[in-house]
Amino acid sequence: MNRVPSNEKKKDNYSKEVLISREEINRRVEQLGREISQDYKGRELHLVGVLNGAFIFLADLVRHLSIPCQICFLQASSYKDQLVSTGKVKLMHNLDLNGKDVLVVEDIFDTGLTLKHISEDLYIQKPTSLEICALLNKRIPDKLAVNVKYIGFEIENRFVVGYGLDYAEKYRELPYISCLD
Ligand code: IMP
Ligand code: MG
Repeated sequence: MNRVPSNEKKKDNYSKEVLISREEINRRVEQLGREISQDYKGRELHLVGVLNGAFIFLADLVRHLSIPCQICFLQASSYKDQLVSTGKVKLMHNLDLNGKDVLVVEDIFDTGLTLKHISEDLYIQKPTSLEICALLNKRIPDKLAVNVKYIGFEIENRFVVGYGLDYAEKYRELPYISCLD
């Protein structure tokens, strides 16, 4: 198991474990960029980043695309009753994706609730095609059936932060993915 480089240590008490290093992330994001460019060759791709978690992943991914693309964002947040998720997702966007080749870019496919809502919401706009790319796929039981075509890494059922992912809005800036134990 890698250790967090000393110059990146934080005073907060998150785990010192690096689950996925910045080098591993760079390599995999480059591969994904090549694969997506190949699949969409000759077409213009409309990437829809899911805020806030996907902002770093999307920014890195688009720099490995060799096809023309347009970039936009939507915001997804869970409705919460105090601290408990109600199982509903609120989406905010002003997108017009009719007739476009759309790729949703998300940080993590956990229960699938968010991605299911996003897919259903965007599908109504009748895009030419609609696919999903998630940096992480968390192995948990009883995931919703969502077709995520591109996955960066499979991870165990642990809470992860860094590279855009947060815990209470913290740790998004870490350049690697770490676990909160
Ligand atoms: P869902 O359960 O698939 O709907 O995931 C909803 C959202 O929860 C994701 O888009 C993430 O923003 C967040 N999330 C799920 N698992 C983690 C995690 O391990 N770390 C940080 N955020 C997470
Ligand atoms: Mg998210």
